Amino acid sequence: MTISRRNFLSGTLATSAAGAAGLLAANGQRLQAATSESSPSAPGSFSFIHLTDQHVTPRRHAPEGYAKCIAALNSLQPVPDFVLMGGDMVFDGGYTALDDYKNQIKLYKDITHDLKYPWHPCLGNHDILGWNSREKVSSTEPGYGKKMLMDALEWEKPYYSFDHKGWHFAVLDSAFPANKEGRIIQEPRLGPEQLEWLGYDLGAAGDRPKIAVVHVAAFCNVGQISGDPKKLAMDGSMVIWDTHELRKVLERHNVKLLLQGHSHRVEDTFWNGTWYVTGAAASGAWWAGNWTGSDPGYTIIRCDGDKVTWSHESYPWLPQLDEKDNTERKKIADEEADHAEQRRLLTLERAGRKS
Ligand SMILES: [Fe+2]
Repeated sequence: MTISRRNFLSGTLATSAAGAAGLLAANGQRLQAATSESSPSAPGSFSFIHLTDQHVTPRRHAPEGYAKCIAALNSLQPVPDFVLMGGDMVFDGGYTALDDYKNQIKLYKDITHDLKYPWHPCLGNHDILGWNSREKVSSTEPGYGKKMLMDALEWEKPYYSFDHKGWHFAVLDSAFPANKEGRIIQEPRLGPEQLEWLGYDLGAAGDRPKIAVVHVAAFCNVGQISGDPKKLAMDGSMVIWDTHELRKVLERHNVKLLLQGHSHRVEDTFWNGTWYVTGAAASGAWWAGNWTGSDPGYTIIRCDGDKVTWSHESYPWLPQLDEKDNTERKKIADEEADHAEQRRLLTLERAGRKS
């Protein structure tokens, strides 16, 4: 599946200094802004990958599937400059046993190690240890919250920015800790401190063309997609709660593109000069086929001067379910029945009106 959109907004040359880099090499080692530029320069031409919602787990042959995804990325031509992760790198730390979560992190690191390109991490809601009403760890557990995964990836700040070939990138953190009846829970929002940082970070980037990435989306049309008017995106989980505040920052700094994850659905919205693009999940339906029509995949983003284009791509992977995955088996059977009905109606309608 390939869907393309174009953004023809114009920009001018930048004059600002670069922000701090959060670049990880393919082997997980931190690079000292190896591909960053701190001097003003014309925006360059290059491509990069948005890879989100891998949900790496030992179940459903996911390690094999993620390795296939990495192999597909490694064979891309033209060669992308880097990979921007979109969050939910591991299956879950919120309601999963600690040893399982640790194993997911190890699998994620081991498989991602084979990626040929540098990559930048971004936190998803499932990457957090605990902060959940169903958590299976104590809040006194070392590494509770964001620390365990960030330490494992030698990753210092949950939100950060970097420059690449005259473009500016901001990586955002949508996992916000809140206090509920004396315990920490997670809310999907950036919070005022991060929003203030973002405003000044983008301001320092001047007129450089800008792209941001966040896990929980600012825009998600789940109600329209499902055909259920009661299923609202802003029901507390599908979009960040400070979309309006983020949108105002992005608009006044002419950010061209916000890359989003979380919903596992390919979507895009253009609003007031900014594209909001949700990439397919690398895991599709958590390694059980496609999710509401979006196959397991990733997004290729091409920056050319001050213009940006993208295409959503899938890679070859068929679901390999575990024995107990009866719900997923039914989902796949229902999808196949729906596709068969679509094909039947198409054949009928192309044959002409029944007299
Ligand atoms: Fe998520």
